[in-house]
Amino acid sequence: MSGDRIEVRALTKSYPGSDRPALAGLDLEVPRRRFVSLIGPSGCGKSTLLRVLAGLTSPDEGTVDLFGSGPRALCRAKAVGLVPQTPALLPWATVRRNVALPGRVNRRAGRGTDTVDELLEGVGLAHAARSYPHQLSGGMRQRVAIARAFALRPELLLMDEPFSALDEFTRESLQLQLLDLWQQRSTTVVFVTHSVQEAVALSDTVVVMAPGKVHRTVPVDLPRPRGTSAVTGPDARTIADTVRAHLRQAWDGGAAEPEPEPTGAR
Ligand SMILES: Nc1ncnc2c1ncn2[C@@H]1O[C@H](COP(=O)(O)OP(=O)(O)OP(=O)(O)O)[C@@H](O)[C@H]1O
Ligand SMILES: [Mg+2]
Repeated sequence: MSGDRIEVRALTKSYPGSDRPALAGLDLEVPRRRFVSLIGPSGCGKSTLLRVLAGLTSPDEGTVDLFGSGPRALCRAKAVGLVPQTPALLPWATVRRNVALPGRVNRRAGRGTDTVDELLEGVGLAHAARSYPHQLSGGMRQRVAIARAFALRPELLLMDEPFSALDEFTRESLQLQLLDLWQQRSTTVVFVTHSVQEAVALSDTVVVMAPGKVHRTVPVDLPRPRGTSAVTGPDARTIADTVRAHLRQAWDGGAAEPEPEPTGAR
């Protein structure tokens, strides 16, 4: 047990009626304040891992230690923010209330300087503050979920393909906001994406998953803050090529050399 990291050991999780476990002995370490991306083939267990970290589902076997607490305890303390793959908004509440709600029930909220209106403006939704979820597009709903997670000011922010339904301009602007949030506070981010470029641009470490487990971890040694030239330059391209090569192996059944580096290494 350690207060300075997330430690997942031998995590196994099966869904009823499925012949193959969604997670099969997965090990993962994420030091506090790191930005880690998970990337891997569809169905390899990324969302399941996030749901276990968020305390929404229990593992069959293995242990999950989040900075010295269990997932449920951290979640009860409102220290975990989750942006799920499909945003779940409260249908009876306006956009504004959807974003404000975690803040109301969370003692930590209100410590920072962002107001709900600033958060809405940041995700480009100031004009929709009084709308209801059924009046929003898919990308707008996703942006409400992102603003709501930011409002929580979580210790651990779990994001499941949060930018997948967004246009490129909005996506880039939210990526910058996310990096700001991460850099200004002691937030640890676990971020799922299918975009190698996005994973490299944002992360300290890219974790390539094969079905049910971690296939490889790739450190992203790029300077911060990362301007456009850093994330499009030759070093970034080399790292992206390495991630792509590991992804191909993960697709081919994970026939790789043994893991050489501790997960979460910069
Ligand atoms: N509620 C569920 N009931 C039964 N099986 C499930 C359930 N959720 C996920 N699974 C199965 O568990 C495995 C992992 O699913 P998971 O959603 O974690 O994958 P993923 O890596 O997030 O995929 P994607 O990239 O498509 O989002 C898949 O084989 C999926 O069919
Ligand atoms: Mg998923």
